[in-house]
Amino acid sequence: MPVSRAEMELLRWYVAMGADEAIGSTPADRFAPPRRAPDRPIAAPAIRFTPPPAAAEAPSSAIAAAARTLEELEAAVRAFEGCALKRTATNTVFADGVPGAPLMIVGEAPGGDEDRVGRPFIGRSGQLLDRMLATIGFDRKSNAYITNMLYWRPPGNRKPTGDEIAACLPFVRRHIALARPKLLLLSGATATAALLDRPDGITKIRGRWFNLETPGGGPPVPALATYHPSFLLRAPARKSEAWRDLLALRARFQEAQ
Ligand code: URA
Repeated sequence: MPVSRAEMELLRWYVAMGADEAIGSTPADRFAPPRRAPDRPIAAPAIRFTPPPAAAEAPSSAIAAAARTLEELEAAVRAFEGCALKRTATNTVFADGVPGAPLMIVGEAPGGDEDRVGRPFIGRSGQLLDRMLATIGFDRKSNAYITNMLYWRPPGNRKPTGDEIAACLPFVRRHIALARPKLLLLSGATATAALLDRPDGITKIRGRWFNLETPGGGPPVPALATYHPSFLLRAPARKSEAWRDLLALRARFQEAQ
């Protein structure tokens, strides 16, 4: 093979540098990446899986999914720093009543009394809720469990924002899954819209039953939408509709016995 002028010059330079003997029949490409030793099977290191701690900064969905009991969920909610309302609230308001009761009620958010004491529905609307439940044989001491869509009071009892609801929603869904109620009462527009993810207003949707799927919660839970007691305090003429909802709830509960 003819040798080019440039190659000839390179050879001369090698000789001048003392490289006067060829040691291989094929040229070595000094610019090629170094050759790796053939891969030998590597034994997998023994790694023990430790579930990550429920970091306060993690999204609420991951934290909620990791909770295996109501106690773990409550602890996770109390440690959660992903909802700005916590900074202005006095207390985290998680739930009241009997965990695992056949009826679970989901309201909107703690008000001033609830924030002060740390229990849901203890102010005026809570007292009305208690009276309504009593008419159909439920109370929070024996067979009802009560929570809210938000665990912290919005300042001035304003309406919760979409972001606040989104931050708490995975906890509420997991809450229902772990509490496993037979029936769910969605009290008011906020709980109804958030949990059913429907655009209909509460006036249109109240009195209707839905099957609510919950994460890892077994069979869907029948859920009835109704007016919030604070709305009934402002609009007492609507109480007859709420009464019909309560009767429907009692009938469904009796059927399920
Ligand atoms: N309104 C709610 O929705 N929840 C409460 O706990 C109190 C008032």
